Amino acid sequence: MKNMSFKLLIYSAVIALLAAQRLGVEAQSCQPSGHLRGRKPPPGKCKRGNDSECCKEGKMYPMYKCSPPVSNHNKAMLTINSFEKGKDGGGPSECDRQYHSDSIPIVALSTGWFNHKTRCHHNITINGNGRSVRAMVVDECDSAKGCDAAHDYQPPCDNNIVDASQAVWKALGVPRDSGKWGWMEITWSNAK
Ligand SMILES: *[C@@H]1O[C@H](CO)[C@@H](O)[C@H](O)[C@H]1NC(C)=O
Ligand SMILES: *[C@@H]1O[C@H](CO)[C@@H](O)[C@H](O)[C@H]1NC(C)=O
Repeated sequence: MKNMSFKLLIYSAVIALLAAQRLGVEAQSCQPSGHLRGRKPPPGKCKRGNDSECCKEGKMYPMYKCSPPVSNHNKAMLTINSFEKGKDGGGPSECDRQYHSDSIPIVALSTGWFNHKTRCHHNITINGNGRSVRAMVVDECDSAKGCDAAHDYQPPCDNNIVDASQAVWKALGVPRDSGKWGWMEITWSNAK
């Protein structure tokens, strides 16, 4: 009898643990708000280069209004973007409606992290490739919209993107001809 209740106790403990884990996962996950059907960019639109992707006719792209919750150690993908006029960045930066030089360390954050401009002109510390760099948030990497002129006919961003100027990539010491340039795992935190 004693043995039986012990088994029962272990069994309930395991069930409780699994339930807690499931709740944790649900709280952390950020689900798409919907899907966007890709449209073909008009002739001569969508500037290729720097790994930027152009929308494809009929392809369904997930849209996100959320990003993973912010901690002091946010896992993200670092991508590269130009913030200069007429380049692959689309319109001017969301924070100040201006274009910016790619030789200063600046970034765009996915919609959830950008959080309705609350991070505008705040600095983040990016850790990657064994180095760290401070960069200022100037723009949104729009996870909720895309495939239009304002987004240079590119699909919506993923929800975990830090889209950085080439100054950030240089500061992290990533060689331009390496496989990492333009797409690399990093962590970021709010700069002190
Ligand atoms: C790619 O990025 C570099 C540096 O950020 C920029 O000079 C170049 O014009 C960009 N290419 C395109 C097609 O936007
Ligand atoms: C972020 O860094 C820039 C450049 O160092 C600085 O001018 C700016 O004031 C900083 N932003 C905040 C909110 O501290």
